[in-house]
Amino acid sequence: MPRHFLTTADWSRAELEALLADARALKASPFQPRLEGKSAALVFFNPSLRTRTSFQVGLHQLGAQAVVLDAGGTWPIEVVEGAMMDGDPEEHAKEAARVLSRYVDLICIRAFPKFQNWAEEREDPVLTAFAKYATVPIVNMETIVHPCQELAMLLALQDAHGALEGKKFVLTWTYHPKPLNTAVANSALLAATKMGMDVTLLCPQEDYLLDERYMEAGAQFAKDAGRSLTVTHNIEEAYAGADAVYAKSWGPLPLLGNVPAQQEMSAPYKHFIVNEEKMALTNNATFSHCLPMRRNVKATDGVADSPRSLIIEEAANRLPVQKAVMSAVLGATS
Ligand code: CP
Repeated sequence: MPRHFLTTADWSRAELEALLADARALKASPFQPRLEGKSAALVFFNPSLRTRTSFQVGLHQLGAQAVVLDAGGTWPIEVVEGAMMDGDPEEHAKEAARVLSRYVDLICIRAFPKFQNWAEEREDPVLTAFAKYATVPIVNMETIVHPCQELAMLLALQDAHGALEGKKFVLTWTYHPKPLNTAVANSALLAATKMGMDVTLLCPQEDYLLDERYMEAGAQFAKDAGRSLTVTHNIEEAYAGADAVYAKSWGPLPLLGNVPAQQEMSAPYKHFIVNEEKMALTNNATFSHCLPMRRNVKATDGVADSPRSLIIEEAANRLPVQKAVMSAVLGATS
């Protein structure tokens, strides 16, 4: 049974610390032929700038070959066991995953939810199916969580703050004209609580709480670390004394599937933008975001371009952390 990297919830804090330590080594020494002669399929059901580039370059730097498959729109696949395949999908994950496993050593998947039925989408059906049928390791390139982004964020935070234990981490919802995926917010919550930060989730109202699976996991990780997970709708209270501010927008889950209703609900909350006035309430906090980020909607230019902004460093960290993850699941750490 291969070891997959589907969510950091499956990896212990010690294992995540080891990945971060290896990522730091790979950042210092990027070219290491650890995966010489190996190949990886990068399967994209959704577009990407950072993920696609950093995985492809990362495999090159490890001596491996990347095969990029643009599956979005052109290659619908069925994932339901026993499905009568008389609709669009020509292929079942049962074959796709097993065939790719015969060609490559690693399969990386990006498959966003379709934002239609959260009860089904919260089970991460595409990733789950590939993990079930593949005989090689699977790495999550963003589905309903974004574990590689999580590690990149943690590496940037460690580099900026040193030890993260006890630092106040604020995950703030921000306005966006479209209802977005909760993946990065779920992941930021999991990562910050697991690493022993005191985490505050700031959102406009209860409809913006994350899926209970992540709220409960975050609360448990915080408890295990002897720290706290606090939910607030009060902007000043959230920012007060913060060491790190992390911005993300997401659609309210109870209205998922009804875009106009989600947009109507979010419209009054444009003031959740991260700006200089809010950052002035913090403990000289760092600011970050997973990117892409709509400037002056989610955060002002002043915040995004400030010396405390980690947005570019976090994005750059995608390269070494993913190399560490791929090395780990293929048993090729130095
Ligand atoms: N943050 C991130 O995953 O960026 P891309 O969507 O460009 O890959």
